[in-house]
Amino acid sequence: MKKLWLIGITASILLGAGPSEGEKLFKAYCWGCHHQTAEAFGPSFKTIASKRNKGEIIAQIVDPAGTYKTLGYRRNSMPAFDDLNATQLDALADYILTFKEDR
Ligand code: HEC
Repeated sequence: MKKLWLIGITASILLGAGPSEGEKLFKAYCWGCHHQTAEAFGPSFKTIASKRNKGEIIAQIVDPAGTYKTLGYRRNSMPAFDDLNATQLDALADYILTFKEDR
């Protein structure tokens, strides 16, 4: 029992050691226009997470000019981030989806 408790503490320290990859990418590339929970120039991650799936989110990041209409926007004002690799896109989409409310 005691050991299990120790493992739990160690794991939470390790996991809580710093921002996730997705959070770091968000702060580096997206924060100017998107906030986690408040609407800014672009919709909040909370809003996005409540209505999109991972595929839709990644498609918009890579090619917003190709997806904005499908997502219901009249214009596209978001730049494409087509130099992010698959791991980074995955981390970003997962980070956005952590803001989904009904979990
Ligand atoms: C220059 C401002 C700007 C930056 C930087 C930006 N966005 Fe956007 N984003 C927008 C705007 C404006 C929209 C609304 C749709 C459009 O213009 O294409 C949008 C829409 C989106 C959507 C779709 C919203 C929906 O309805 O589901 C996603 C997902 C998204 N952005 C993710 C990101 C991510 C992730 C980053 C960082 C890698 C990022 N954006 C960087 C401005 C920006």
